[in-house]
Order: sequence, then structure tokens, then C-alpha cells
Amino acid sequence: MALHSSFPSAVWSLFAFLLVTEPYLALGSSRRGPLGLTGNVIIAPPAGMCAAAVAVHGYKCQEFDVRTDDGYILSVQRIPEGRVGGGGGGGKTKQPVLLQHGVLVDGMTWLLNSPDQSLAFILADNGFDVWISNIRGTRFSRRHATLNANDPEFWNWTWDDLVMHDLPSVIDFVFKQTGQKMNYVGHSLGTLIALASFSEGRQVDKVKSAALLSPIAYLSHMTTALGVVAARSFVGEITKLFGLAEFNPKGAPVANFLKALCAQPGVDCYDLMSAVTGKNCCLNASTEDLFLKNEPQSTATKNMIHLAQTVRDGILSKYDYGNVNYNLEHYGESRPPVYNLTNIPHNLPLFLSYGGRDALSDVRDVQTLLDSLKLHEPDKISVQYVKDFAHADFIMGVTAKDVVFNQVIEFFRRQL
Ligand SMILES: *[C@@H]1O[C@H](CO)[C@@H](O)[C@H](O)[C@H]1NC(C)=O
Ligand SMILES: *[C@@H]1O[C@H](CO)[C@@H](O)[C@H](O)[C@H]1NC(C)=O
Ligand SMILES: *[C@@H]1O[C@H](CO)[C@@H](O)[C@H](O)[C@H]1NC(C)=O
Repeated sequence: MALHSSFPSAVWSLFAFLLVTEPYLALGSSRRGPLGLTGNVIIAPPAGMCAAAVAVHGYKCQEFDVRTDDGYILSVQRIPEGRVGGGGGGGKTKQPVLLQHGVLVDGMTWLLNSPDQSLAFILADNGFDVWISNIRGTRFSRRHATLNANDPEFWNWTWDDLVMHDLPSVIDFVFKQTGQKMNYVGHSLGTLIALASFSEGRQVDKVKSAALLSPIAYLSHMTTALGVVAARSFVGEITKLFGLAEFNPKGAPVANFLKALCAQPGVDCYDLMSAVTGKNCCLNASTEDLFLKNEPQSTATKNMIHLAQTVRDGILSKYDYGNVNYNLEHYGESRPPVYNLTNIPHNLPLFLSYGGRDALSDVRDVQTLLDSLKLHEPDKISVQYVKDFAHADFIMGVTAKDVVFNQVIEFFRRQL
């Protein structure tokens, strides 16, 4: 099980967020002030996401609970129309759009800038029926029919389970509520689970088109000393440290783990944020503060290990139990099955937008992804390269509307 000297910038750049939220690590974030860290307790705003982040801007908002077939209860929000005077399309049936966030964050990330700058509001004001998903384990989706979030079994999942359970449950729900196929927007892990689903022919009967921002599938390119250290620690020791458990970025065990990594020779955590996520060109300081008050969110340790495997192995496959017998037991094969992206239906309309400074969705890895889509019908795939953008710019950049979101809307309008 040799490690390549590479690690997912994906995983790592998310650590960057963790580090800046960690007061012990003194990463020069004094202007951010107290973040209300609460140890292992995750506190959701009591009023929920609609009241906290949508209704305050004068939009209608509905909140739903969606139960997955393996018992998780996911919170889903709907912004059915734009502000008064916005929205257009009088009487016409609105097209649904589902927004799927990335790893270690939740659906709130679509709502942090002003309404004129945030994708969810912009879509509503442009006449779309907007749905926001929150995957298992994030603060509004920490419920299960029989398990409690304190039970280790609650955290026994990886992104394979998002492909098998969360995504189908939410997509089915939106499909039933609206009676229509939907457009999909994914960011980061939200692109990975969509690509993996489509490659298995899942959801393609209910998804009309997909816009993939900071697309992630292959995660092999990482060159910093930090990445190498992290790769070893992650796949090797993290299971021993955390077991089958919640990976709570705001908790003490994760903080101590990161502190130990940062103490390794040659690892510089001071400028981790830009060294690893890539230098975001266009974030608003107030929005960053708001981001850090709302994120990061917990995920499963097993999910983080799966992401680390994705890097190590350089291929996209299901979770590797690390043992032939366990793999045989789960998959009937000694190696975990591969998600073969060349099997994505070649006529499924795709829009991909990636950034020149995105350390998480590295340009070389995006090229590998594009190579695997080279049999796609040419008029069904659009690719945008944004030289100055890094990972977070695609969601929270103050120029994202002009640069990316307007293109997404045009792309969706072409799908009538
Ligand atoms: C975790 O889930 C796997 C199936 O994905 C199952 O085989 C295993 O027994 C579960 N472990 C625990 C502790 O629940
Ligand atoms: C940054 O955010 C603040 C608070 O929402 C807002 O008042 C300001 O106009 C924003 N700046 C830019 C450049 O969008
Ligand atoms: C993926 O599928 C294509 C065609 O279906 C096949 O030619 C290719 O070998 C497969 N790749 C892998 C890695 O299995």
C-alpha cells in the first residue's frame, strides 16, 4: 500500500479552513474575533437556515426533512421565487435547480454574500425554483431514524453513501415536489458525487443538466511538504486516532491532530490558507468572517479516509477496506469497484468551470477529468477556465456573478 508523494489538496485545503478557525494555532486571524467554538457540540441556529439566511433578505423560503433509505434525515431548503419584481416568467413553470455543497461545509455557503452576489438568490431572481441540500452530518442534518449523532455508527459512511443514499433521496424528493427534471449545481465534493452517480447511470433520468464548479474527480496533484506529511498521517494514523467517528473540525481531537502535523519539520501552517487552497482573488472580508462563523461542519472520519485514498490511488473508486477479505465481503471483488467516468451518458449537458489558482481542483487533475469526458457530445459540454479564481471564489467571490453565475444561468436556459 505505497503512498504516492501526493495528497488531495481537496482534503488539505479544507484543513486550511479548520486551522484558521482554531484559536490554539494562532494563525493570525485576530480580526475575526471570537468564533463561538463549542467543543464537540454543534449548534445550529435555532430558527433554521431559512430564517437565518434567506427570509432576512425578503425571500420566501420553505424547509423540508428528507429521509434517506438508510435512515438519515436531511434538511432541504427551497427558495421558490425571487424577490417581488424579480423572478420574471409570470405563470410559466419554473425550472428547479438543486445546489449541492462540498465537504466540511453545508448549504449555508450558497447564501453568505449579498443577494446580488449569491448564487441561490441570483437563480431565484432569474426565475428558477431553488433547492438547497445539506448532506448527512452537517448541522441541520444530524438526525437519523434510529441512530443518535453520538453513536459511532452514525458516522459509518463515505462519499459512496452520498452517491447511494443522500443524492438519490434529495433528487427524488425535488422531482416529486416539482414534477420536473432538475438542473444541478455542485461545488467540490458536490461535483464528485454527481460525476460518480452519473457514471453509474444514477439520477440521469431526473437531472436535466449539471453545472460543476471547482470540479473534483482526480486528486493526485499536490506538491507541498504539508501534503506529503498529511498523506502519511491521514491514511496511516487517523483511523487509530479517531476510529469510526465524527470528524469534527471544531473539536479538540482534530485540533490536536493538526497541531501535531504543523509541528513537523518543513511544514509551514502560518500561510496555509493561500498556500493550500490557492489564493482566492475575490473574497469579501465580511463574507469570510461569516463563513467562519457558519463553517466548517463535521463529516465522517471514514469519508476523509476515502478522500485520501482517492488521492493516493489516482483513480476514482469506492472505499477501500484495505484488506482483500473485507473488500470481497463488501464488493465481491478484491479491489474496490472503479467509478468509470467515460460511462457518463455522452448526451448529458455538462458545464464545468475551474480556476487557475484552485489548489483543491488542480488544473492538471481537471485535465484528467476532461480527458475522461472526451467522448462527450461536443455540443453537450461547456468548459470555462477562470485564470484568477481559487476554490472559494466559485461560491463566495464578489465577481463570481459576472464571471461564472451568469454563464451557469445561460447554460441552464439553453436546456429548455
Ligand atoms: C459499517 O458499515 C459497513 C457497511 O458499509 C458494515 O459492514 C459494518 O459492519 C459497519 N460497521 C459498524 C461498526 O456499524
Ligand atoms: C462586502 O460585504 C459587506 C457586508 O455584507 C457589504 O456591505 C459590502 O458591500 C461587500 N463588499 C463588496 C465589494 O461586495
Ligand atoms: C471505462 O469504460 C470504458 C468503456 O466503457 C473502457 O474502455 C475502459 O477500459 C474503462 N476504464 C476503466 C478504468 O475501467
